[in-house]
Amino acid sequence: MDRLVIRGGRRIEGSVQISGAKNAVLPQIAAALLSSEPLELSNVPEVTDVDTMLDMMREFGVIATRQSERKLILNAGGAHNAEAPYDMVRRMRASILVLAPLVARFGSARVSLPGGCAIGARPIDLHLKALEALGAEVGMESGYIHARTKADGLRGGRIVLSSPSVGATETALMAACLARGETEILNGARDPEVCDLALCLAAMGARIEGAGTHRILVQGVDALHHARHDLISDRIEAGTYAIAAAITGGRLEILGAHLEHLGSVGAVLENAGAQLWPTDRGLMVIRSGPLRAVDIGTEPYPGFPTDLQAQFMALMTVASGASVIRETVFESRFMHVPELARLGANISLQGSTALVRGVERLHGAELMATDLRASVSLVLAALVAEGETTIHRIYHLDRGYESLDHKLVQCGGDIRRVSG
Ligand code: EPZ
Repeated sequence: MDRLVIRGGRRIEGSVQISGAKNAVLPQIAAALLSSEPLELSNVPEVTDVDTMLDMMREFGVIATRQSERKLILNAGGAHNAEAPYDMVRRMRASILVLAPLVARFGSARVSLPGGCAIGARPIDLHLKALEALGAEVGMESGYIHARTKADGLRGGRIVLSSPSVGATETALMAACLARGETEILNGARDPEVCDLALCLAAMGARIEGAGTHRILVQGVDALHHARHDLISDRIEAGTYAIAAAITGGRLEILGAHLEHLGSVGAVLENAGAQLWPTDRGLMVIRSGPLRAVDIGTEPYPGFPTDLQAQFMALMTVASGASVIRETVFESRFMHVPELARLGANISLQGSTALVRGVERLHGAELMATDLRASVSLVLAALVAEGETTIHRIYHLDRGYESLDHKLVQCGGDIRRVSG
């Protein structure tokens, strides 16, 4: 298994190109199942979660070809209904996103329950309620979800989500596209990735209005058609590199980033002592003065994203003062805490709240990566830790960050990927 060896003390500066959004491409790959005509996606990130999703799609007979780098053609014309097996779904929770397209296109689906993962139980009750609101009958048996429509397929309805779940909103959108009549989705997630899925579905012929707001209306159509769609850039990758510049006192232009996609992250980083401003190529981030401790609580978009909580905590470990970090989206997303502590960070946990007391400096150590975002927070801390840090099991990083080590080396980082 590969590991990263990082020597701290170098500023991250220059420019870095952000890739397409992992959390936009995964639902859009699933959406290809809705149509019998090809879907062409561009700006596709080269991350292993995409490979996992493509393996899943091939189970259903979807022909997936990478035309050139970052371009993907998905043809579900010859797709057939099949089962999404446990050993695939447990590898990646986002596999659950095939449920709605299978039900909408073929009238039934059998998908394994995803099972918990490193960041909590992660139920799918909201996905199932959304399908039931459109007339599907949903049952569970020996770890599998069975869903089927009545003879005449899904019909439009009113979906009120008890919480703005990103995945459940995407399930609702995909099911509603082919449901007969109008569907109203209330309290859906407003994330840029949800909006990008709506744009992709609209390019395929879906009739959607209000994506990105609390009320989405979908007029069902009989079929979707051939489409091309260019993915939005990855705001979490952009936020990660913004924090890399901030933690090392660097100056970095993040190409392809959009400040507005970062929601409240920009203001939080400025309160912490960084300066950010949009450029015609993306976003500039500088930190020249002292790093200050700032309190945050993660929230649904446009609040502070849970996917940047671990990275922000790394920043706070070397800020002056104490920062209170509340994780409100997932019940346990602090896998990075014991590993950051091995570098000398001073963090105490109380339930879903972390108290981070900034220290003068961190010291390199051997670390173990766990979930995707926890792993990248270790990389960020290692960039400023004195001496050498080795991070093992970095396959977690490769799930969601394209060429992280190469990109950081290009920006001045002292990082080596060691195989074996
Ligand atoms: C998406 O996961 C992202 N993944 C996650 O990114 C991200 O952290 C999350 O949204 C929140 O922003 C993808 O888009 C592939 P949720 P998702 O449904 O859809 C609870 C990363 O690192 N919930 O918004 O699974 C759930 O348990 C990943 O890139 C229910 O209770 O997140 C959680 O506490 C990690 N019932 C909260 O809602 C449901 O049916 C938010 O989950 C669904 C969710």
